[in-house]
Amino acid sequence: MDPEVGFTSDVIRDPARFVGRTNQLTDCMKAVNAPLSLIAVYGKRGVGKSSLMRQVQQMALGDYTLAKYAGLQGQIPQKPRKYLTTYYTCDSSINGVEGLLRRLCNDQDGEDGLLRLVPNDGKELVEFDRIKEVSAGADLKVVNWGAKGIESSKYAKTVEGDIVQTFRNYLSAIVTHQVKGKMKRDGLLILLDEFDVIENKSGIGSLIKSLSSADVKFAICGIARDLTDLVEDHASVERLLEEGAIHVKAMIPAETSQIFSTAERLFKNEIVFDPDVVGKISELSGGYPYLAQLLGKECVTVANRLSVKLVDPTVLTEVLDDVRNGTAFPTLESQYQRAIGESEDRKILLHFLAEQEDRADISADELGRVLVKRLRQDAKDVGIEWVDQLLPRLLDKKFGPALFRLPEKQGVYEFVNPVFRLYVRLRNF
Ligand SMILES: Nc1ncnc2c1ncn2[C@@H]1O[C@H](COP(=O)(O)OP(=O)(O)OP(=O)(O)O)[C@@H](O)[C@H]1O
Ligand SMILES: [Mg+2]
Repeated sequence: MDPEVGFTSDVIRDPARFVGRTNQLTDCMKAVNAPLSLIAVYGKRGVGKSSLMRQVQQMALGDYTLAKYAGLQGQIPQKPRKYLTTYYTCDSSINGVEGLLRRLCNDQDGEDGLLRLVPNDGKELVEFDRIKEVSAGADLKVVNWGAKGIESSKYAKTVEGDIVQTFRNYLSAIVTHQVKGKMKRDGLLILLDEFDVIENKSGIGSLIKSLSSADVKFAICGIARDLTDLVEDHASVERLLEEGAIHVKAMIPAETSQIFSTAERLFKNEIVFDPDVVGKISELSGGYPYLAQLLGKECVTVANRLSVKLVDPTVLTEVLDDVRNGTAFPTLESQYQRAIGESEDRKILLHFLAEQEDRADISADELGRVLVKRLRQDAKDVGIEWVDQLLPRLLDKKFGPALFRLPEKQGVYEFVNPVFRLYVRLRNF
């Protein structure tokens, strides 16, 4: 049995694979259907933000399959607002507003790019469904950019040296000719993922505000502790965010368990999971669906090896042995090796940090923080003295970094990637 049939480490696009997040889906549904709003999806690394964004895109196209699965039938509006969509994933070479707009105006992705929607002589667009098996929710994709190439535009004027105006012109051409004209939709939804990596975000909030209307909506997504982290000049978009601020948190165990019932369904019950195994994995993965998906995949691999169809505790023990000795998850393992850099003592420190328990009296915001003070104590107990020499590598970008320092607090750190922290806990000491 191919493990990928039931599990994936990719962003979830298919609503049939998406589990949980009922509250967030409700909020997304409201924000998609509000005439004027900004959607901002934020949370820790690897928690499931992009997967939620892809579901927002699906709902914006008028496909509410997922909401129905999730029991939200009653909340789907009679006449949901329908959009055309663009989806762009930012990267760290974008240094500010203008850089972002330049990228958007030049994005040639045939299914998700903005440029594909700019009306243009000779360009051939066809309707398509982002998710197979679903009839609702058609978007447009380019099948032929046309003989004149992708630059020439009859309807939208490129203004030399003024990217903001060019972008505005593109938007209004798209709204007039594609959204309203050709497809008779309510608006255009521009989804921007990994928004947090844009280096200088000043001015982006006010630009988004000035461009948002009943016809144009934005959805942004990124790693952040709170909204101020994500949108620097958030004051300007505060009113737009009344319904659209969506914090994606770690899953509760019942949600993680659903990843396994979903997988069983996708495997057509040719692989089944013992409830104790599901319970144990839900606990070990700490609410991070990525780790649950990886462990699920590995269980199937081991079950195949043992020629069994039931993933029982024996199978799980074998999986956890493979994780413990570093052979199960190569990507996480290489992060692990890079962080410790062949130092036995640093390895011990990393494990101490990963194992630090959250104190009972802390607030939800403080979950997952680690303290150097406690590390020193632990280190002393096992006779490691050079904590200050061993620590810098864990903070060095070149080697990960594994940790970042919380600017406002002395000696307080957090794992950059919570999944990595969970992995260290599973790894052999
Ligand atoms: N609702 C969900 N149901 C099932 N699996 C999920 C869900 N959300 C996320 N996952 C799984 O979790 C992993 C991470 O998801 P995703 O890429 O959406 O997270 P992210 O927060 O965007 O990560 P990053 O911070 O790295 O961008 C993937 O393996 C994905 O399959
Ligand atoms: Mg993501």
